[in-house]
Amino acid sequence: MQLTHCLPTKNLSWTPRVHHRRHSPPTSAVRFAPISAAVTVSPPKHQKTHSMPPEKQEVFKSMENWATENVLPLLKPVKDCWQPQTFLPDPALPLEEFNDQVKELRERMAELPDDYFVVLVGDMITEEALPTYQTMINTLDGVKDETGASSSPWAVWTRAWTAEENRHGDLLRNYLYLSGRVNMFMIDRTLQYLIGAGMVTFSSLFH
Ligand SMILES: [Fe+2]
Repeated sequence: MQLTHCLPTKNLSWTPRVHHRRHSPPTSAVRFAPISAAVTVSPPKHQKTHSMPPEKQEVFKSMENWATENVLPLLKPVKDCWQPQTFLPDPALPLEEFNDQVKELRERMAELPDDYFVVLVGDMITEEALPTYQTMINTLDGVKDETGASSSPWAVWTRAWTAEENRHGDLLRNYLYLSGRVNMFMIDRTLQYLIGAGMVTFSSLFH
């Protein structure tokens, strides 16, 4: 079964690549047609550049001590967090043991129906567009990271959230890559289009 995503193929600027299965297939490989330049819309002409007036920004400024004392302690220390490698074959092992772990992973995923991969790829692409979300948050008045390394608790939270989120896409991407069940080239191309297109930010939602 070939699955296409979002667009009729006549709108696509690429020729689908034949995906060869390299292990005994329970189902055919899931192939994703990338979202192409055909849907990379021009940015809207009228976009708001501020999410709130200065007097409202002052409210967030006045809450910084509160955020430092009550919000930042909620962040889980990095040393206590799982990392993508926690759930993946260990490349530091001797090659044969590493290959055994990859084989075991593939055997587990071989039984999953294609539908699961549609969901997993959709989730992975969403997670991997993280640069867009950090950009979006940093358009917000009152909480934006003014320098990229601001000591404002709102900015510290945003960077820590981004760093924490970054693990999700990395794990999904590596897991799907090792599964051999999806066309990574097309997925990565879609992701490149997606991040390049950006996203209408919260700022545009406020009046
Ligand atoms: Fe996530």
